[in-house]
Amino acid sequence: MIISSFKLEHYFAKYEFNAKYLLSSSDCDGFSLNYVLSSAEHGELELWNSLTLGYTESEGHFLLREAISRHYNSIKPDDVFVLSPGEANYILMQTQLDPGDHLVCMRPSYQSLYQIAKDKGCVIHFWEPDDKGLFNPDDLAKLVNEKTKLIVVNFPHNPTGYYPTREELNRVIEIASRHNTLLFSDEMYHKLVHNPALLNDSLCDLYDNTVSLWGMAKSFGLAGLRIGWVTSHNKKLLGMMKHFKDYLTICNSATSEVLSMIALNNSERFIEVNLQKIRANKQIFQAFVEKHTELFDYYIEPGAGSTAMVKVRLQEPALNYAEKIVKESGVMLVPSEMFEYGDQHFRIGFGRSSMKDALAAWEAVI
Ligand SMILES: Cc1ncc(COP(=O)(O)O)c(C=O)c1O
Repeated sequence: MIISSFKLEHYFAKYEFNAKYLLSSSDCDGFSLNYVLSSAEHGELELWNSLTLGYTESEGHFLLREAISRHYNSIKPDDVFVLSPGEANYILMQTQLDPGDHLVCMRPSYQSLYQIAKDKGCVIHFWEPDDKGLFNPDDLAKLVNEKTKLIVVNFPHNPTGYYPTREELNRVIEIASRHNTLLFSDEMYHKLVHNPALLNDSLCDLYDNTVSLWGMAKSFGLAGLRIGWVTSHNKKLLGMMKHFKDYLTICNSATSEVLSMIALNNSERFIEVNLQKIRANKQIFQAFVEKHTELFDYYIEPGAGSTAMVKVRLQEPALNYAEKIVKESGVMLVPSEMFEYGDQHFRIGFGRSSMKDALAAWEAVI
């Protein structure tokens, strides 16, 4: 199988480590090692100080899986499989899909949620938002049939920040359960819900035939740990995924596992700090949009996650504009071409403390 280029990651590789300001990142600022360790309880510190750096248990350290399971209602440590998030996407598609299979995936979306299936020769239909950036479950219902092997959803959604109401989520479950279709629920931004009263349970707690994905990169601001996990009641599926991992990373980084455990056990010290930053940055960006109506067509304030899409009025493709702006001002913007979503949108990331400075640098060259 020849795999297509991952447009978004390719674009990040070009600018992420040389642009002065990142205005489109989906992860929040990374917390320091000191901060993580200063959050640790006595027992966790003992684990850290006595850690040996050999191979680790392939499915993830038991204490880490236990810490993860406490964030769900119905998940036990045995229902958890720890691996890097990109690896999880890849393995899931490789183990569950054959050429010609039908799946439905949200679009725009993180490319690995559909690209591996596409390159394998699967037939994909995309669930797309209306012109207000909202996904309507009635549109999903029209795409799913008895032959659909997999439905891929991502709530909170990257890049739009869309988050379903409870009723909308129930409707998604109803659509999947009609034919007992497997649901892959990418929840990388889980719990980054700006109004906590609107937080939904993980889909793996609500519909048995679900594999949910979450990890340290976004909600916790610990992308450098490269730790994620899938949770599911489907033991057969988890078993197939575990077999495949033996040919990839085999097991996880020992240091990252303990640091992840500390963050999970003290999650408010990470998630709450990120939420505060996102809420403050949303206000700053809203004011910027209102000031520059000549540039912005519309912007829908996201209710969850750390990103949004903003529509612009440009005489040129968003990619050209973004490449010009990064050279002139040092501000990196991700154009919608990276999501195969036309050429008149940018993704905005709200998880960085440099937002004010980034907008000032952009404004100077508008
Ligand atoms: C929706 C979604 N899923 C999965 C990933 C992969 O997460 P990680 O970078 O931790 O591998 C990302 C990263 O941007 C994402 O946005």
